[in-house]
Amino acid sequence: MATSEESTRDSWNAGLYDNKFAFIWEYGSNLIDLLDPQPGETVLDIGCGTGHLTRAIAERGANVIGTDFSPAMIEQARANYPDIRFEVADASNFTLAEPVDAIFSNAVFHWVHDQEGAAACLARALKPGGRFVAEFGGKRNVGQIIAAAIDAMREAGYPDGAERNPWYYPSIAEHATLLERHGLETTSAVLFDRPTLLDGGAAGLSLWLEMFGDSFFAGIPEATRQRIVAIMEARLRPALFRDGSWYADYRRLRLVARRDVSSGR
Ligand code: BEZ
Repeated sequence: MATSEESTRDSWNAGLYDNKFAFIWEYGSNLIDLLDPQPGETVLDIGCGTGHLTRAIAERGANVIGTDFSPAMIEQARANYPDIRFEVADASNFTLAEPVDAIFSNAVFHWVHDQEGAAACLARALKPGGRFVAEFGGKRNVGQIIAAAIDAMREAGYPDGAERNPWYYPSIAEHATLLERHGLETTSAVLFDRPTLLDGGAAGLSLWLEMFGDSFFAGIPEATRQRIVAIMEARLRPALFRDGSWYADYRRLRLVARRDVSSGR
């Protein structure tokens, strides 16, 4: 689930990911039903993280390859599932020896900065008529958290919070238009709210920021970072904290696109 920009330092903590962020791949399980992998099909799982969904796809009988930009994630995936092929690869700059029947991706594409490059890679990697089934953060995903981060950073003397935001959260129309430019036709798409329980009780928001908020906090001293998190918690508590737990205001974009057979690509 790591991609190029985020992972140039390979900051991904595969242990913490598996331990406290299992919801990421657990939520992805029913995306596999939408993929509906068939025995004998070839499937590419982009941003496979520690490999749990890749394994679930393999269990349906498909020949699956898992890729992730993070060597730490791939190392853990190989240790978890030695019989499955896992490779380090960049979602926006990869080629396959042979095109595949389907590409699957859960909770990854919001990290990809070069979306045009990624769409070109997807189109090239799919057989004509092949399908791309993905879910990632959609328009206004974690909108309240981002707004609180920007305000808290300004209050702490860092007015550039908006520029530090690393995520791509498109509308259905924006993303379908992008895919179409590359010969991928979106055949279904849905954007929906999915308030998401963060593990860790009262520490849930700060753990989430520790795992995913590096871009916001780069170069900020630890004491100031803690102050920013405290300001965020105070502001977000009425909306996102209940019964002892934090709920992130996730909004998911889930879509199926097909490589247009007539595009001649
Ligand atoms: C998401 O899955 O929507 C997400 C995960 C980490 C950071 C931001 C968004």
